[in-house]
Amino acid sequence: MTPYEAIDVRFSCRAFDDRPLGTADLEELKALAEQLGQEGNLRFVVVGMADGGADLKLAARMFTGDVSSYIALIGPDDNATRERFGYFGEKLVLHATAMALGTCWVAGTFDRQSVKVPLATGEVIHDVIPVGHMPAKQPFAQRTIRAAMRKRDKKPEALYQGPTSLAEAPTWVRLGIEAVIKGPSAVNQQPVVFVQDQSGLRATLPKVQRDIAYTDLGIAKLHFQLGAEAAGTCGTWGWGTEGVFALQ
Ligand SMILES: Cc1cc2nc3c(=O)[nH]c(=O)nc-3n(C[C@H](O)[C@H](O)[C@H](O)COP(=O)(O)O)c2cc1C
Repeated sequence: MTPYEAIDVRFSCRAFDDRPLGTADLEELKALAEQLGQEGNLRFVVVGMADGGADLKLAARMFTGDVSSYIALIGPDDNATRERFGYFGEKLVLHATAMALGTCWVAGTFDRQSVKVPLATGEVIHDVIPVGHMPAKQPFAQRTIRAAMRKRDKKPEALYQGPTSLAEAPTWVRLGIEAVIKGPSAVNQQPVVFVQDQSGLRATLPKVQRDIAYTDLGIAKLHFQLGAEAAGTCGTWGWGTEGVFALQ
């Protein structure tokens, strides 16, 4: 399964079964986390069962079942770090999805004290991503939570401002934006708007309600890039709000 294909399969998994992750799965995630950490100058810590992964306390009103492994996203408390965590962390999420594992970005509904990873001065825990085996069917409560969140889905047109309507925009732009809508964002706010004009295509955050929107920005940039690539148009993003998608 390619990362682009994983976009269609991924969802925020809030139910896990009791089987801990096997050593091979953990090693695969650790190796990728190490590589992405180097690429993005980020600290991903993969915590398996043997490292105390089962101590993680997720809010019981949202999550069910025992998850014994998670990835802690740790770094300085700034928006540039948040954005890079979004971009590179979502690469990890899509990879885990392709491994048939359940994941969920969690920035709020967990107990930070239950994360036993030591922090250096100036570091904070931005998010955790529990990773585990999924039950064959998500329980009713978790399906209801997701349906309620996904009701807020924006129309693709709301995420695009360009010289034409989105329907008349090039296929790579349309597939990019479709991939963004399918992606995760904090409380499904989908805050990123793609603006296209003579200077190119930029990812913007018109209304930043909370800093976590910068993580959404990084995630949206990755999803857009994968969607554009699926239409045969490759590009790389400049960082930050107003970052330009440089076509290759
Ligand atoms: C940065 C970020 C933080 C999130 N934090 C939480 C959280 O604290 N608790 C939670 O249950 N879901 C959290 N989510 C998951 C979103 O609610 C979810 O992505 C959104 O509702 C879309 O649903 P889907 O991911 O199932 O497609 C977060 C997602 C992102 C991207």
